[in-house]
Amino acid sequence: MRDCIVIGSGVAGLRAGIELKRLGIDVAIFTKDKASESNTNYAQGGIAVCLSKNDNFDLHIKDTLIAGAGLCNKKSVEILVKEGPDKVKELIDWGCQFDKNENGELNFTKEAAHSVNRILHANGDATGSEIERTLLNKAQKESIEINEHYRLIDLLVENKRVIGAKFHNLKENTLNYIYAKSVVLATGGYAAIYNHTTNPSLTTGDGIASAFLAGCTVEDMEFVQFHPTALNYKKAPSFLLSESMRGEGAILINDKGERFMEKYSKQLELAPRDIVARSIFSEMQNNLKDHVYLDISHLDSEFVKKRFPTIYHECLKYGLDITKEPIPVSPAAHYTMGGVKTDVDCKTNISGLFACGECACNGVHGANRLASNSMLEGLVYGARAA
Ligand code: SIN
Repeated sequence: MRDCIVIGSGVAGLRAGIELKRLGIDVAIFTKDKASESNTNYAQGGIAVCLSKNDNFDLHIKDTLIAGAGLCNKKSVEILVKEGPDKVKELIDWGCQFDKNENGELNFTKEAAHSVNRILHANGDATGSEIERTLLNKAQKESIEINEHYRLIDLLVENKRVIGAKFHNLKENTLNYIYAKSVVLATGGYAAIYNHTTNPSLTTGDGIASAFLAGCTVEDMEFVQFHPTALNYKKAPSFLLSESMRGEGAILINDKGERFMEKYSKQLELAPRDIVARSIFSEMQNNLKDHVYLDISHLDSEFVKKRFPTIYHECLKYGLDITKEPIPVSPAAHYTMGGVKTDVDCKTNISGLFACGECACNGVHGANRLASNSMLEGLVYGARAA
């Protein structure tokens, strides 16, 4: 029997695994696909963290609580914001290359509902894959065992205590029972069960479902965040167009070419994302269209290509040059605020079972997650789960 198994290899699972190893605990990670195939890997915009000169803890806490629509757990938010900077500095020490300005300082950008520039990004719009790369390297250096292609079927529970998990090994097509004294769930959310989603197909809520069936309390399951701007173009998949495009000056227009956000919010395109998503939906309904447009073509084209290389190349694949023309977009399921109910130490109501990251609900996001808080949550609460 192992001391601990971690299920999931996104930011929360890897961070939990690294911390467990540091504490001298025998740990193995089990993951549904290749180790790098997680929602983390596809995150574009960045990681929100209180590290810039103009920022302070109170501001980041306030922005998070406002975005959460009064339904956050304040203690969880304070922990996230206050423990975040050290976790991000540690990630940088492990080799994570965030983008810097011409003076060699970290380059903070803005996203919706943040009152200051506080979002770090990497390789322009490929922040998640840089974070995933860094954590996987660190896990490899620490010789953490990672078992790929293990799909979670059930948690094993005896006398209200977790004793392991049952997996379908997708490579071997076998059922595997792995016994452990404790289990950390870091299996992500369930936005991929929606038809229009920004998530990879593997985010089907397996961890939350298994926990529920094992007797765990789940909370806030109705709060599913729709990202306002996913590509909606002919046969192209519904690909994320990062909020940081609006942070850098992209605007939203309807099919008549009118900039419409002034009808809905004083914060225009940088209103909280639930407001922007609902405004887009209203415009689509009023105009009997299935999309509006995101336009960044008024910005310098070299800047756009350098700042958003992933988005530029992905759209070009489908014949859309974002430096020259507006991009058809509509909202898509993006993030699940709810999940397995935990306290601030990631404990669930089943002894020995912990949950962190998107599959968990400790109230840090309330009804609506503040943009780019999720990577920070994975780092902070992954380490706390350990
Ligand atoms: C984005 O880049 O717009 C996504 C950021 C997030 O969901 O936090």
